[in-house]
Amino acid sequence: MKKVLFVASESVPFIKTGGLADVVGSLPKCFNKEEYDVRVILPKYICMREEWKNKMNYLTHFYMDLAWRSQYVGVLEVQYEGVQFYFIDNEYYFSGPTPYGNIYQDIEKFAFFSKAALSALPVIGFKPDIVHCHDWQTGLIPVFLKDKFQEGEFFRDIKSVITIHNLKFQGIWDMKTVKDITGLPAYYFTPDKLEAYGDANYLKGGIVYADAITTVSETYAEEIKTPYYGERLDGLMRARANSLRGIVNGIDYDEYNPETDALIENNYNARNFRKEKIKNKRALQRELGLECDEKKFMIGIVSRLTDQKGFDLISYMMDELCQQDIQLVVLGTGEERYENMFRHFAWKYQGKVSANIYYSEAMSHKIYASCDAFLMPSLFEPCGLSQLMSLRYGTVPIVRETGGLKDTVQPYNEYESTGTGFSFANYNAHEMLYTVKYAMEVYYNKKREWNKMIDRGMAVDFSWHTSARKYEEMYNWLCGW
Ligand code: ADP
Ligand code: GLC
Repeated sequence: MKKVLFVASESVPFIKTGGLADVVGSLPKCFNKEEYDVRVILPKYICMREEWKNKMNYLTHFYMDLAWRSQYVGVLEVQYEGVQFYFIDNEYYFSGPTPYGNIYQDIEKFAFFSKAALSALPVIGFKPDIVHCHDWQTGLIPVFLKDKFQEGEFFRDIKSVITIHNLKFQGIWDMKTVKDITGLPAYYFTPDKLEAYGDANYLKGGIVYADAITTVSETYAEEIKTPYYGERLDGLMRARANSLRGIVNGIDYDEYNPETDALIENNYNARNFRKEKIKNKRALQRELGLECDEKKFMIGIVSRLTDQKGFDLISYMMDELCQQDIQLVVLGTGEERYENMFRHFAWKYQGKVSANIYYSEAMSHKIYASCDAFLMPSLFEPCGLSQLMSLRYGTVPIVRETGGLKDTVQPYNEYESTGTGFSFANYNAHEMLYTVKYAMEVYYNKKREWNKMIDRGMAVDFSWHTSARKYEEMYNWLCGW
């Protein structure tokens, strides 16, 4: 058996703040079970739902040195859908209402988690061939693996991979504190290692020390080598280009399946969506107090409300957008300025705009299953999962051509009758508006064309099937299997 350990800060169904959790929760079960034993290790956050905490079995505990501190490390486990999940328990670090809090606390929290995840392995008797890390929270793992852990027989030949889900978040804090927290020697705190622009940088450590680096789409893998998308690490990305590859994300096709989804009003599939999908739209219009008109062009947004997702373009164009013959349904939380912007427009255009400023799995499914189009004009987008969910539910994505959006949405070509969505190239509010208007025109005036676009969108396959094979290839290459 080839053994792989995923280490991450979130995973469905246990805890989720964004797409990272979807990936970590759905990819491991898609590896070939005859060949790969892929397990996952996560923090046990106090804020996890009781339902999950009650299912966890206590395995063991021990005390671990983190620089001058000695800390309790509990290890629990759950089997879920055939995958072994481990949880690191420490109520000092993993309390709080959300997985992430103040960065200075998170810096220590994830240094602890990273070291504890490695230290737990000999104790639970699982020796992976590869430790697969995700994002800055686990960036210290490749560093720890090259440092102290190499001294023991157990860790010597373990390889590491780091997947960058978002280069913007790097885990940056001052070097003195990070030295003190991690206990790593001064040797590591130079610009060719953990230091970046005078501070310590966890993600950089991971990128420098990992044996292989991946990111979540081919286009983003190229983009991050340029200053515009490189978040000040583009030089490093260029230097490590030979070890960097892009593998596009998939989504869980069982979880996101309009034919069986229990969270939506009316189930449908690629054959009957023309008749059946509209029932969801009617139900959602009623539920959200929108004008009940099943013909209205309904646009959905489900997103973290941050500038990454293009909300500056939307804010700028909102009034003009609302002059169009459309309805807009938003679900999201995040920066206050965007939350308030949507609340304002929902008040100004009652019956036309619905602002749902909260987090809800159920509402997200209803939106994917009800809207005609899905708007995602991101400034940058490592992969993006919402557009894949939209395609799966026959909701036409309108996106900016960046990162994974560019790789997964094929732009409509009216002359050849090809494409699965609409897209525009430049981060420009007028280009976005123009593209929305174009989509609207096709929707109202060329309904057959519109429906054929949905046929094509629902036929593309963004399950993990293809991408899981690419991860397997990468593992095989890395270990000479
Ligand atoms: P990111 O990880 O950058 O936030 P992705 O598109 O990769 O973006 O993934 C976002 C995930 O979070 C999707 O599963 C989306 O449905 C979900 N999501 C975002 N905001 C909400 C919300 N307010 N309620 C429910 N689900 C949400
Ligand atoms: C990040 C990115 C998003 C990606 C997700 C999962 O949150 O912002 O584009 O889909 O990770 O890889």
